[in-house]
Amino acid sequence: MRLEEGSHPSTVSNAEWAVRGNRVLVGNVRREDLVFRKGRGSWLYDVEGNPYLDFLGGVAIHVLGHCHPRVTVAVQKQAQRLLHTSNLYYHEPQILLAEFLVRETFADRVFFANSGTEVVEAAIKLARRYGDRTGRYGLLGLEGSFHGRTLGALTLTGQKKIREGIGPLPGGFDWAPFNDIEGVVRKVTPETVAIFVEPVQGEGGVVPADPGFLRELRRFTRERDILLVFDEIQTGIGRTGTLFAYESFDVVPDILLSAKALGGGLPLGALLTTSQLAEYLPPGSHGSTFGGNPLACAAGLAVLEALFEEGYLPEGGQRIADTLWEELSSLRELYPEWIREIRGKGMMIGLVLPGRAVEVKDRFLREKVLVNATGPEVIRLLPPVNLSLEEIATFIKSADRVFASMGNPGGS
Ligand SMILES: Cc1ncc(COP(=O)(O)O)c(C=O)c1O
Repeated sequence: MRLEEGSHPSTVSNAEWAVRGNRVLVGNVRREDLVFRKGRGSWLYDVEGNPYLDFLGGVAIHVLGHCHPRVTVAVQKQAQRLLHTSNLYYHEPQILLAEFLVRETFADRVFFANSGTEVVEAAIKLARRYGDRTGRYGLLGLEGSFHGRTLGALTLTGQKKIREGIGPLPGGFDWAPFNDIEGVVRKVTPETVAIFVEPVQGEGGVVPADPGFLRELRRFTRERDILLVFDEIQTGIGRTGTLFAYESFDVVPDILLSAKALGGGLPLGALLTTSQLAEYLPPGSHGSTFGGNPLACAAGLAVLEALFEEGYLPEGGQRIADTLWEELSSLRELYPEWIREIRGKGMMIGLVLPGRAVEVKDRFLREKVLVNATGPEVIRLLPPVNLSLEEIATFIKSADRVFASMGNPGGS
């Protein structure tokens, strides 16, 4: 596929744009020298017109690929009608999206924000207000987790490197081992009011929770009146085969956090909970100027409608994921010294390597395939659920060349 008319290649190259970007942007992210101009389905196109197979999807955003026509049209129509009202009034897209989420989940109520980290903050606040009646405030995150970059969410995050150099951090947070119920029980104190868990840790290296661990966690938290919060910001919206991963683990949380794919590319986060717990966020206790704004909600509604109406949910997306997993397993047989393990769920996949994941990611980039390295040992794949068989074949051929070119894992 070439760039269409009207989006013809720029006279300024990727490298020239990158130099300009580096001059004016804060260098808080290590970026590739790549400047994208257009996306369609599983493909991105840079300013020079080169196509890239996108197996990262804007980091778990594009569960239906780039510019899905239903999402694009919904955004166009909404942009002509109404862009923003504030949350002092109602608007239709927000109510329709909340109704959809309530209908399809355990939840009775939804609070909307603009990002993942913001709904983590909302959950922290809700939990603390819940605990306030009984003098409880302790929040437990799990080791290896990632919850965001604002102060509460990053304090909850179970990775030291995310918390370093910005102290003093807020108090009342602690971390317990992942997939180890006894380790969690040891960390719980009489003050503990909520435990946050990702059903599959994403940034931490695509590590799924053990179903038994989640069941035990649910039983334990219920016994102790501790809120169980599922951070499904990365696992949700069809990514792991069901609308939210909790459904497949058969464990119902008290609070569920969604973002990323929910907005179909627009900034949107949602906190889902029961009507009983929603009482702890009464008028004036929390808010967001933009949260759940008409444009983002119209996009979110289009994403959910497309997932269900095009047959990817309740379960169709899993079939495509199964095919990709089969192909990856065959690839692993060819390169067992490189692909030590394939882990994850649905279209959230980690290839566990003996090391050198950044070098592998760079070789994928030379193949014009986008993946990412979460640490030195894991390549993360987050392709859309509507991937075609041809695209799977293209990816596997590229991966074959990448691993063939890597030589012996012990070498360099
Ligand atoms: C599980 C999880 N929680 C929270 C976040 C933070 O979301 P955002 O970047 O939208 O603030 C992320 C982002 O990667 C995430 O994967």
